[in-house]
Amino acid sequence: MTISQDSAAPLIVVVGSTGTQGGSVVDNLAASDKPYRIRGLTRDSSKKQATSLAERGVEVVQCNLTVDNVEGIRKAFQGATYIFIVTNFWEHLDGARERAEGKAMVDCAKEAGVKLLLISGLVNVTEASNGELTKVFHFDAKHDIVQYAKSVGVPYVDVQASAYMSNIVTFMRPAPLGDGAYVVRGTWTPGTKLPYIDTLHDYGLFARLAIESDEFNTGDGKALSAWSEWVSFEDICNSIVSEISGKRVTYQQITEEQARAGMGQGGMPPHAVDDYIDMSKFHEFVWPRVFVETDLSKLARRPRTFEEYAKTVDWTSVLP
Ligand SMILES: NC(=O)c1ccc[n+]([C@@H]2O[C@H](COP(=O)([O-])OP(=O)(O)OC[C@H]3O[C@@H](n4cnc5c(N)ncnc54)[C@H](OP(=O)(O)O)[C@@H]3O)[C@@H](O)[C@H]2O)c1
Repeated sequence: MTISQDSAAPLIVVVGSTGTQGGSVVDNLAASDKPYRIRGLTRDSSKKQATSLAERGVEVVQCNLTVDNVEGIRKAFQGATYIFIVTNFWEHLDGARERAEGKAMVDCAKEAGVKLLLISGLVNVTEASNGELTKVFHFDAKHDIVQYAKSVGVPYVDVQASAYMSNIVTFMRPAPLGDGAYVVRGTWTPGTKLPYIDTLHDYGLFARLAIESDEFNTGDGKALSAWSEWVSFEDICNSIVSEISGKRVTYQQITEEQARAGMGQGGMPPHAVDDYIDMSKFHEFVWPRVFVETDLSKLARRPRTFEEYAKTVDWTSVLP
């Protein structure tokens, strides 16, 4: 199917439409056999990703989603049947700002009388760890936005992204060792498995499920995990990426002190380093206990495995 221009079709407003999660929501709703009108938001409607969306029939609307622009958000959300919201902690590293912007979007979604608000939330790590891990600000802030939606009584569903497979080419890009081999360093024990998703390709499949399935579109705050499979750091590096790229890539566990020093030297502010370290502990010790697997057979198609994702990467530019 294509993106509908029929005014009778439901309108979905997609925050972050030029990005990974929002872009995936656009792609997967466009692929649905049900018709949707899609309004994609961006701060810059002249950028390449925005003009490509417009060429595909997305109504591109320029809007800066900040707390001093509530009027702009209100206007951008007008007439929406569904609204997808995502906040981007890593752009500004400020949990309070993430929380405030999320809440402003929730308020505007409620005012718009939305049928269902899709929130890209995450687990409350402080609670899930029984108060042991209190510094995963970007998880807790997202959970607070979801709780706020519950408190104001807007119909919503919480679509939680698991770990991005693409982290292997961004945050966790293998570093050259100088002898043709590469290494990924982290504090996780090598066998630690995380639930992964090829976010750009598949996150929107779960948003589509949230809208189209009577099990999830009830508006009473159900949570669903956008995931595909559990994979260990060792398997990603030593097996999948090594075999597909043809380069020798290994995973090496380092101490917390070494990780802190590395991130500090890289210019990461101390609170963001704390966030990353506590998140790693959450991944290893808490996530396997609290993660709820969405039944993948309910999706419109099967999401990619890590191996399938890795085959789509141009490794010659990642590992030159
Ligand atoms: N990496 C992981 O493993 C992982 C896992 C789970 C959750 N997450 C979460 O995912 C979130 C990021 O989502 P993403 O990957 O989709 O981000 P992304 O690819 O970097 O895209 C960010 C999007 O947000 C839009 N945006 C940012 N600030 C905006 C503003 N002030 N007004 C309007 N639009 C704005 C950008 O639009 P323009 O630039 O076009 O304006 C862009 O479309 C983070 O908060 C992170 O914590 C990450």
